[in-house]
Amino acid sequence: MLISIDGPSGVGKTTITKRLADILGLRAVSTGAIYRAVAYAIKKEGVSLEDVEALRRFVEGLKIDQEYKNGEIRTYLNGEDVSGYLDEPEISDLASKIAAIREVREALLEVQRRIAGDDAVVEGRDIGSVVLPYADIKIYLDASLEVRAKRRYEYLRSKGLNVSLEEVKREVLDRDNRDKSRSSAPLIRPKDAFYIDTTHLSVDEVVNRILKIVRSLAV
Ligand code: DC
Repeated sequence: MLISIDGPSGVGKTTITKRLADILGLRAVSTGAIYRAVAYAIKKEGVSLEDVEALRRFVEGLKIDQEYKNGEIRTYLNGEDVSGYLDEPEISDLASKIAAIREVREALLEVQRRIAGDDAVVEGRDIGSVVLPYADIKIYLDASLEVRAKRRYEYLRSKGLNVSLEEVKREVLDRDNRDKSRSSAPLIRPKDAFYIDTTHLSVDEVVNRILKIVRSLAV
């Protein structure tokens, strides 16, 4: 079974994806972490964003893998586990910039499909619309900007990053604008997705709503 979880930054996609995967016995896949790993590689190698064809070749040459083990999504770049480097604000910003480049998105399409396979809960921005239009169940999560900034802030603080709520709110707003306005696979709510506004819901409540949908469809 394939379940897609799309939605804007800070809505809680990764948390919900992991919880669902654990309950349903599926793998959890984070395509956000894939974009972040590519941003990390670009930064490390000092690759320019100007020459988009060279950028495409660079991204195509990367070996990207992901596995779900002991409740953790681990992302590998050319065999190295880079998961610990992906939450830095600089990486978030660069990931959002490269995600707006069509050549990068195209180069990552098959990578994401390979990693997703046939049995997974997959989170991202264009999973139900572009990457896995054939997903069995599509979910779109949303929440107010205030609540998303607060969730992201709490997550970053829990990872030991020294950021302010104002800074995080600005970052989330910038990424929202970029993710929604880009011409290539912008963040949209697929017509066939179940929409859940999580502003006033706990993680358990969101998970239970999705489980109800899964059970009612009995895929
Ligand atoms: O969900 P996240 O914050 O880890 O994602 C990092 C960036 O990658 C974010 O700015 C949006 C982009 N992204 C995307 O464009 N498409 C996806 N399927 C996943 C992430």
